[in-house]
Order: sequence, then structure tokens, then C-alpha cells
Amino acid sequence: MLNEIKLATGAVVSLGVATAALVVLPYIQVKDIQAPAGLKPYTEQQLRGRAVYVANGCVYCHSQQPRDRNYGPDSARGWGRSSVPGDYVYDQPHLLGTMRTGPDLFNIGARQPSADWHLGHLYQPRAYVPGSNMPAYPFLFKQKSAAEEGDVVVQLPPGLNPPGRVTIASQEALDLVKYLQAMNHTYPAIASTSTPVGATSSPEGGPSK
Ligand code: HEC
Repeated sequence: MLNEIKLATGAVVSLGVATAALVVLPYIQVKDIQAPAGLKPYTEQQLRGRAVYVANGCVYCHSQQPRDRNYGPDSARGWGRSSVPGDYVYDQPHLLGTMRTGPDLFNIGARQPSADWHLGHLYQPRAYVPGSNMPAYPFLFKQKSAAEEGDVVVQLPPGLNPPGRVTIASQEALDLVKYLQAMNHTYPAIASTSTPVGATSSPEGGPSK
């Protein structure tokens, strides 16, 4: 009987410690985080585009979390300042990503604002970046003999359009591009709430931000 009690107590304590460390403490740490002034909530269309991003597995190859310069050369790659928790207040769930087969997309809207470029690149990445191993997403487009009213015709590089046809972007492709264009976190980051008021730099010897 004594052994059973020890076993049950051990299990409850382990579960309690794990819940405190992985659920309760992180929740207390981030619950009061405010959106930075420069960050706008997503529009309906951007949210639909975000769902297309999830459905097509973009997150498996692209991260959305530039690192501090002490942890990697992300800013030297042109991916922007390191992200802070406030940058993600409207992201539910967040799409931080863990793989970087392709570049980090946290600031792709600032780096590449052109909708034409994004549409064409989604249709055939290798027409823009020779040797790219990003999959093509031709099923997000339709080909017709002539554009109808309201159709968004994609301006593809020469030779990519089948002769005598026009390539039309689907609503999913347009929504996805709006989401990509909205990924622009170039506003100044607000300092983390744990930074003491008046502190200008990190403590000596610690990583500088
Ligand atoms: C198999 C991995 C893979 C998947 C899945 C993938 N990509 Fe990519 N992506 C890449 C690679 C590699 C590059 C770099 C070469 C290029 O630009 O084509 C890239 C580049 C990009 C770029 C240009 C980035 C820059 O800095 O110029 C954008 C935008 C992009 N991808 C968006 C997407 C979207 C949206 C999806 C989902 C619909 C997606 N990717 C899915 C691998 C991937």
C-alpha cells in the first residue's frame, strides 16, 4: 500500500511541476503583454490568407521569428530586428515555425511589397529564383482563354503562360498575398515588461539587444 501511495504522490507532484513550468509560469509571463503601437490587427481578408498559409503548409519551411544577433545572423540576412512577444498578440495560434528551408517571413511584406511578384512566385517559384526548392502552387490559379470582369490577371514572366491563355488568381491566392504583404514588423519593438524602468542597456556581460 505504501508503494502505491508513493507512486501516486510522485505522479501528482511531477504533473504539478510540469504544469507549473510549462503552462502557469509562461501564462503569467505573457498575459499582460500589449500590442506595440505600430502593429495593426488583421483584417478579415488577411485572416483568410493566414488560413491559406496554414492549409498549404508554408509554416513547415518558413519561420516567423528573426533571432537576436547574438544567436544568429538573421538581421544581416535582412530579416529585421529580433521579434518580441508583443509582435504576436494577434496571432492565434502563432506560426513561429521551426524550419527554415526558406527564408524567415516575419518582414516579407516590407522586403517584398509587390503583389505581382508574390502571385507569380507562388505560381512558379523557379521562374523567379532558379533552383528554388519551394513547391509551386498552380492550383491557386486558373487559366482561361480571356479574362472576365473582376478577374485578377497575373503578370507572369515571359514563357510561363500557356499560349493563348491568361492566368487568373483565385480568391485564396489573393487572400494569401494580402497576408504576406501584411507581414511587416518594422515598427520599433516595445521593451519587454521585465526590463526595469529607466534601463538603457542590458547588464554588463549579458546579451545586448
Ligand atoms: C518545401 C519548403 C517550402 C514550402 C512548403 C514553402 N516555401 Fe516558400 N520558400 C522556400 C524556399 C527554399 C525559398 C527561397 C527561394 C525562393 O524564393 O523561391 C522560399 C521563398 C519564399 C518567399 C520569398 C522570400 C524572400 O525573402 O524573398 C516567399 C514570400 C515564400 N517562400 C512564401 C511561401 C508561401 C506563402 C508558402 C505556402 C503557400 C511557401 N512559401 C511554402 C521553401 C518553401
